[in-house]
Amino acid sequence: MENFIIEGGVPLRGTVSISGAKNAAVAILPAAILIKGKCRIENIPNISDILLCYDILNILGAKITHISKNEVEIDCTDIHNDVVPTDIARKFRASYYFIGSLLGRFKDASVGFPGGCNFGSRPIDQHIKGFELLGSNVSTEGGVIHASAEKLTGNSIYLDVVTVGATINIMLTAVLAEGTTVIENAAREPHVVDLANFLNTMGANIKGAGTDVIKIYGVSELHGGSTYSIMPDQLEAGTFMVAAAASKGDVLITNCITKHLDSISAKLVEIGVNVEEGESGDSIRVSCNRRTTKTSIKTLPYPGFPTDMHPQMAVLLSVSEGISYINESVFDSRFQYADELNKLGAKIKVDGKIAVIEGVNSLIGGQVSACDLRAGAALMIAGLIAEGTTKIDGVEHIYRGYENIVNKFQDLGGKIIVSSNQ
Ligand code: EPU
Repeated sequence: MENFIIEGGVPLRGTVSISGAKNAAVAILPAAILIKGKCRIENIPNISDILLCYDILNILGAKITHISKNEVEIDCTDIHNDVVPTDIARKFRASYYFIGSLLGRFKDASVGFPGGCNFGSRPIDQHIKGFELLGSNVSTEGGVIHASAEKLTGNSIYLDVVTVGATINIMLTAVLAEGTTVIENAAREPHVVDLANFLNTMGANIKGAGTDVIKIYGVSELHGGSTYSIMPDQLEAGTFMVAAAASKGDVLITNCITKHLDSISAKLVEIGVNVEEGESGDSIRVSCNRRTTKTSIKTLPYPGFPTDMHPQMAVLLSVSEGISYINESVFDSRFQYADELNKLGAKIKVDGKIAVIEGVNSLIGGQVSACDLRAGAALMIAGLIAEGTTKIDGVEHIYRGYENIVNKFQDLGGKIIVSSNQ
C-alpha cells in the first residue's frame, strides 16, 4: 500500500492545469453503451474509478481502443448484456450508471450494488422510482439489482430529493424510450449538463439540462461517430484553489470553467483570499498573503456550495481567524475526516450535521488516514500547510478521483514523496 509523506510549509506557486471531470466521465463512459457504433471521448481523467468503468465495459464486450492516456475510442456495436459483477460494482458509486445504460439499450440490466465513499445511508430509491415510472420492474437478489422492461415509455418523474445519480440514471434510461420523459426537481450539476451534451452529440434529444426541468425526447437510436471532450473538473479546480489559499501561495489554475467555481470563489473572497478570473472564463488565479477569517458554509446542490469541497474548506477554516461553521446538508454524514484533522492540531467539533471549527494558528504534522476521496484531498492540503512532516495512508481513495495529484502539487512546490512501505 502506498502512502504520502509531506513536508509542509511551502507556499504553492505556479500554474496547474485541470483534468477532465471525474463525475462527468463516470457517467459518459457507461452512456457509450447506448450507441450501436463507435464514439471517441477525449479529456478522460486517468484515475482509478475510470479504470473500473473500462473493466466493466470490457466484461460487456465493448471494444476499447486507447488512443492516449486521456482519450479512447469505444465501439459498443456488439456488446452483450452480462451481469455487472458485485465485486467490481461495489468498488465505486458510479457503477450504478450501468443499470440505466444497460436498461436503455437492452431493456434489461443486472448490476451489483454500488459502493463509493461512506457518507452514511445512500439510498437509491429515486433511481428505482425513475426506472419503474419508465416501465421497468426492479428487484434485488444476492447483492444484484435487476431491472427489466417489456417496453420503456417516457413519463413525468418528480424527484423527491435533488439527486445527481438519479437524474443521470433516468436520462440514460429515457434516451431510447418511446415518447417524452420529464424530470422535475432535477440536479443542475455541471456533470449532468456534460452528460446531456455528450448524448446530444451522439444523436439524443435532451433539453433543459442545467435547469431543474429536463426533457428527454426519446429517439430510436444513437448514431455515434462523433468525438466528445469531457469538461474540466470543477472539484479538482476547487481543491487547488483552496490549497493555494491555505498555503498562502499564488496559483494560476488553467483549463477550468470559472462559472462552475462561483460558489467556491465567493467563499474564498469573503474570507480574504484574492481570486481573479481570467477574461476568457477558463482560468482563475488564487493568491493569499494574510490570515483568512471565519465564515459559515452550508453545502447545497449546484449552484450552491458543493458538498465535495467541504472537507478541503474545513482545512482552510481550521487555520482561519475565529469560529467557522460548516453545515453539511447533502449527505447524512461526511465528517469522518474531522478526527484526522484534529490529530494535526485542528479544533473541529462535530454536532450532528454541523462542524464547529475554531481557528488555530497552525497545524502540526502527524500520521493520518484518508477515509474517502475528498477527505484525502483535504488531508493533503493539511499536510502541505502543517509544520513538519505528515504521513497519509489510505491514498488509494485519492487516486480514485484526482489525476496525477502528487506531480501537480510537486510542480507547485509542494514537498510530497510517495512511499510504498506499509
Ligand atoms: N438520495 C436519495 N435517494 C436517491 C438518491 C440520492 O435520498 O435515490 C440522496 C442521497 O442520500 C444524498 C442526496 O440525495 O443525501 C444527494 O445524492 P446524489 O444522488 O446527488 O449523490 P450521488 O449521485 O450518490 C454524486 C457524486 C458525489 C457527490 C454527489 C453530490 C458521482 C459518482 N458522485 O453522488 O461525488 O458528492 O453527487 O454532488 O457523481 C465525489 O466526487 O467525491 C463524490 C462523492
